Amino acid sequence: MPGAHYTRTAIVLHWLMAALLVALFCLGTYMHDLPLSPQKLRLYAWHKWAGVSAFFLVLARFAWLLAHRPPALPASMSGWQAASARVLHLMLYVFMIAVPLSGWLMSSAKGFQTVYFGVMPLPDVVQKNKELGDLLQTVHFSLNLCLAASVVVHVAAVVKHRLLDRDDVFQRMLSVRVAKR
Ligand code: HEM
Repeated sequence: MPGAHYTRTAIVLHWLMAALLVALFCLGTYMHDLPLSPQKLRLYAWHKWAGVSAFFLVLARFAWLLAHRPPALPASMSGWQAASARVLHLMLYVFMIAVPLSGWLMSSAKGFQTVYFGVMPLPDVVQKNKELGDLLQTVHFSLNLCLAASVVVHVAAVVKHRLLDRDDVFQRMLSVRVAKR
């Protein structure tokens, strides 16, 4: 049975993830074009740490979903609108998992191990391999475009709910006043 509302934990996880995704996308695009320098390497390390953190946030969100049911979609939504919303949410989850995984695999294939916050080395599951590294870079970039497109549609749908449908879809992901832990 759907929950009555999002909990405070779900709301915090949602907005942390949104902020991280925007920051990671901007940083990734910016650092890619920089000439090689200590600053570029530092930004790459920050990008990887933030990317691994985003992956952990998705896992935390899955843990939340095991224990809670999200609130139901508004009854005013037609069948196809509700189905589209569910497909879009699924796509967001798939890309939020696939993008960090592709970044981690790309780093391994390019021969740069990811050391989370400089202290926790992640295992390199693929051998150093230039062709594979280049391929995974294209995969990471392409998945990012898919994730960005899904986020844009997601935001557009929220704006429609707020301005045209005038329902509480945006409010319930914003308000901690009605939320319980
Ligand atoms: C949700 C998480 C992530 C997002 C949104 C993201 C986003 C991006 C974007 C937009 C780029 C620029 C792509 C291009 O212009 O070619 C990029 C590059 C890169 N990402 Fe990520 N990334 C994420 C996670 C990760 C993770 C977890 C790692 C590694 C552990 C990683 C490693 C890299 C590296 C090394 C590059 C530079 C590729 C190059 O220029 O050689 N990313 N990322």
